[in-house]
Amino acid sequence: MNMMLCWVQVGLFFILLKDASTFTDSPKYDYEIKYITMKVDHFGFANDDTFELRYLISKEHWDENGGPVFFYTGNEGDITLFCENTGFMWDIAPQFKAMVVFAEHRFYGKSMPYGNLSYSDAAHMDSFTSEQALADYAVLIAYLKSSIPGVSHSSVIAFGGSYGGMLAAWFRIKYPHVVQGALAASAPVLQFEHYTPCDVFNTIVTKDFALAGDSCPKAIRRSWDAITRLAKSSGGLQYISQAMHLCKPLKKDAGALKSWLTEVYGNLAMANYPYPASFLSPMPAWPIKAVCSKLTDPGLHDKQLIDALFKGISVYFNYTGAAECLDVSQATTGALSDEGWGYQACTEMTMPFCADGVNDMFEPSEWNLQSYSDDCYKKWHVRPRPDWVPLYYGGYNITASSNIIFSNGKLDPWSGGGILKSLSDTLVAIIIDEGAHHLDLRASNKDDPPSVIAARKQEVEIIRRWLGEAAGWEQHAQDGRRLVVHDSQVKREHL
Ligand SMILES: *[C@@H]1O[C@H](CO)[C@@H](O)[C@H](O)[C@H]1NC(C)=O
Ligand SMILES: *[C@@H]1O[C@H](CO)[C@@H](O)[C@H](O)[C@H]1NC(C)=O
Ligand SMILES: *[C@@H]1O[C@H](CO)[C@@H](O)[C@H](O)[C@H]1NC(C)=O
Repeated sequence: MNMMLCWVQVGLFFILLKDASTFTDSPKYDYEIKYITMKVDHFGFANDDTFELRYLISKEHWDENGGPVFFYTGNEGDITLFCENTGFMWDIAPQFKAMVVFAEHRFYGKSMPYGNLSYSDAAHMDSFTSEQALADYAVLIAYLKSSIPGVSHSSVIAFGGSYGGMLAAWFRIKYPHVVQGALAASAPVLQFEHYTPCDVFNTIVTKDFALAGDSCPKAIRRSWDAITRLAKSSGGLQYISQAMHLCKPLKKDAGALKSWLTEVYGNLAMANYPYPASFLSPMPAWPIKAVCSKLTDPGLHDKQLIDALFKGISVYFNYTGAAECLDVSQATTGALSDEGWGYQACTEMTMPFCADGVNDMFEPSEWNLQSYSDDCYKKWHVRPRPDWVPLYYGGYNITASSNIIFSNGKLDPWSGGGILKSLSDTLVAIIIDEGAHHLDLRASNKDDPPSVIAARKQEVEIIRRWLGEAAGWEQHAQDGRRLVVHDSQVKREHL
């Protein structure tokens, strides 16, 4: 189960961390970095501790006479990464004359409630929840409204991708008076026990590989046993270690290699973008196709299969040809810590994963909440509450809410836990046939497929409508306030 635990921990945020390396030299966008003092605990009165929450702000395109605020609800990582990789917001800010704000999620990046002790024990992490993060965002917006002239009447639209997309949707659901609408891109709000079967993610990954030819998932499905057989044979581990160019030769078994491969296949599916993207290890356009071009013969002998597999995954870790060896002990997410998501997955964000090796190409592995919970307890001294998120945020029973776009790419393995059908006139599902993980949030690109161009166009139209309605309501509310004032004056005069 360890492997699964690991996998769940890194699952969601990988894409953005990977993309981080695309801007190691200089940021693509122009923004100011600011901090706001936040209460550690918004919901109780005993703990008065505060910390500095980081946010990025750009007024470059903002019209201070009513321009809206585009607000990114930061997810599990350094906010500058999300900022650099959410080009869609920057692309459309000029036409909306919008202010752009990216808020960092507490316990990530520079927003550490207790400095270097933030992750020291369960007590210091007690405020590490989505509820507290959303409260941070509400407090930040209230502060912007009170401190920047012109914002007080601005509408606010929330944006987010992946876990950030879940937060954007939930922000609108819980704070409808603070945000007028939300674009929740690739938000697996239903990836929870009793809502989504645990094998969906792996089934979609497998389908993505099958699109590049049936033999590809067949070869990968066969490779697990091939690795196991070789690992047990004399000299087998040495063969695998050499064939795979491993930095550290395998000693006892091939478990670490298998976990790495499992994770990488999921990552490839999430990042199966139509253009070359320069990740930690840059990848070509449609990377799955490139991997599968090396895995065309599922009938190979074990050793040949390992050789072919190595050629395939070289696309992932050695596209530039600069890799000196393959380090399977390194998280596929690169240098950044996946600690935070590990904790969230052990508390609120427990997302069941499993594989059967029949409908998917993975080594069979069951979902077992008890052993998952035991692992969580060992690591963090906390146990998951898997029913809490669906109950608190509503799962798909959210028709009392409005103005949320749920966009999902059909190629994205997380789409299995997303809302794929509109729930009402204003809870709108958009499906992007050729989209991987929140492709729509990325900056426009000359190789964008028609489906993502159409999706972005629809998103812009819907946001425009929300803003129009919000302006109408604002007028209405002003008239209402005037009426109230008028009324009380009349009453006073009358008295
Ligand atoms: C934590 O930060 C404090 C204050 O900046 C510093 O004095 C201390 O050495 C740090 N501790 C560790 C373990 O890094
Ligand atoms: C990476 O690719 C280059 C060029 O093809 C090759 O020389 C090198 O051995 C590869 N590295 C690994 C670890 O396979
Ligand atoms: C949503 O509604 C269905 C049908 O009424 C119910 O079975 C389910 O428990 C509800 N989910 C939540 C999270 O309230």
